[in-house]
Amino acid sequence: MKLLRERIFVYGTLRPSLAPPELKELIGQWRKVGDGFVHGRLYDLGEYPGAVLDSVSETRIAGEVFQLPDDGATIAALDLYEGFDPEDFSASLFVRRKCQVTLEDDRRIECWIYVYNRRVAPSTIISNGDYLKMQAEAAVKMEEAKSESPTLDQTQQLESQYVMPTYARGPVMFVRGKASMLYDDKGKSYLDFISGIGVNVLGYDHPRVRRVLREQASLLHTSNLYYHPYQGQLAERLVKASGLARVFFANTGTEANEGALKLARAWQRRQGREDKTEFVALTNSFHGRTMGALSITAQEKYRKPFEPLVPGVRFIDPNNGQSGIAEAISEKTAAVIIETIQGESGVHPVNDDFLKAVREACDKVDALLILDEVQCGLGRTGKVFAFENTSVKPDVLCVAKPLGLGVPLGAFIVGEKAVDGLKAGDHGSTFGGGPLACRLSLEFMEMLQEEQLLQRVAEVGNYFRKQFRRLQRRQSGLIKEVRGLGLMVGAELTFNGKSVVAKMLERGFLMNCTHDTVLRFLPPYIIRKPEIKEMLANLEEVIVEESKQPGQD
Ligand SMILES: Cc1ncc(COP(=O)(O)O)c(C=O)c1O
Repeated sequence: MKLLRERIFVYGTLRPSLAPPELKELIGQWRKVGDGFVHGRLYDLGEYPGAVLDSVSETRIAGEVFQLPDDGATIAALDLYEGFDPEDFSASLFVRRKCQVTLEDDRRIECWIYVYNRRVAPSTIISNGDYLKMQAEAAVKMEEAKSESPTLDQTQQLESQYVMPTYARGPVMFVRGKASMLYDDKGKSYLDFISGIGVNVLGYDHPRVRRVLREQASLLHTSNLYYHPYQGQLAERLVKASGLARVFFANTGTEANEGALKLARAWQRRQGREDKTEFVALTNSFHGRTMGALSITAQEKYRKPFEPLVPGVRFIDPNNGQSGIAEAISEKTAAVIIETIQGESGVHPVNDDFLKAVREACDKVDALLILDEVQCGLGRTGKVFAFENTSVKPDVLCVAKPLGLGVPLGAFIVGEKAVDGLKAGDHGSTFGGGPLACRLSLEFMEMLQEEQLLQRVAEVGNYFRKQFRRLQRRQSGLIKEVRGLGLMVGAELTFNGKSVVAKMLERGFLMNCTHDTVLRFLPPYIIRKPEIKEMLANLEEVIVEESKQPGQD
């Protein structure tokens, strides 16, 4: 390793009289315990619960290691080596980071390191005066950076002229994120309880995501004409996690569902059942917006403008017990498609007895059972897949949203039964399953399986709902029900929730309202309990205020 710059973080040599107040007491008390390497990026892992520091290590930073006499805390003063990227530092001037250090004698210890952000503090030893000057310079630089990108007003102006007006966006423009927090162009922070509608499950700027992005920068796309190393590995992980057999990679949830419908038709035809072409779905379902996926989406508001849609679709109302199942699922049914937890309709977990009855009806007539876990799958409920919370297993499973950690990736996973449904040339995608998306996804699947992330989702999700139900008891006239599993939470209000979402946005909290009255929360899996508490305290005030507005009775 080539030493780039000698001892840039020299806390040990900083004189107490020159130290910034927050670190003053530490200086001068250090006892050198050896030399060592720090493993990993200099991230505050407290912000990313569930991350394993070891596997983030690509940067090796050497330096002296000191121990404080009082509490035994260990601190490293570091040299900078090739491969280290100062861009990894956050914008603050002083950063306290927990790291693992390997001492020369191979002992591994946890330690705190204190570093200057080199972007802000390029010199090695600074005086108090310089420190204040640098703060001022940093503020100026941030101002300059801000002025380079278009303002919200300018962006709204451009979009209103050039972008199809299909979205009613909230009046905010995000420019960066960190852990569970997003920042707008004015520097205001927002705690994220929607995570890009269930996509950004590791929050923002996660150290492991950053590493993959850097390592994969030289090969983003290859097309499915050729192999790349990651699609097969990811498919293996998904197959092993689901107990199904093979995977097709698409880009979105809609595409995953669309492909699953095509697979069902093709498979039935391959069995010689030419007229087994119908689909059955649930009332209030949402499966996407292409013509096929829209055809199995029950809600009128999405369908109406585009009719006629694919014929031969029947809908069952899961609120009517099991009646309707036998009539709808017939010898003509190619497949039944169900969201294991209905998301868009307001977070409704599908009743287990109902699911079992559907599974039996499918088996009776050899129809495929497709579970759409685009929103509720991949850790959201505290299990890798939501069907693990039920007593049924699907023939086909559709996933997307968090699969590529923000890079579009969807997939349908097919069980043994229909594994030969599609042959070469039957289905395809230019982008589906590209190297960048698959590699990110592999990292995510690894984290889901190796770390405490799932346990966290279950535990923090329980806390969330428990606290929310307390709020509900206090405000029983305003909150009808709190539903969900893991970190997929819906709260049904007794009045329209649109203005609640707008007011919460003003207060710096992101969530959405679905089906007019249901507040939907899909926070990142790294959300922390104090953040939930803070959001709920604000929400209670806003709900009370908004329920009193004219027209809300
Ligand atoms: C259950 C379900 N299926 C399908 C979709 C469509 O996914 P996408 O928007 O990625 O096409 C969604 C999107 O919200 C969804 O919640």
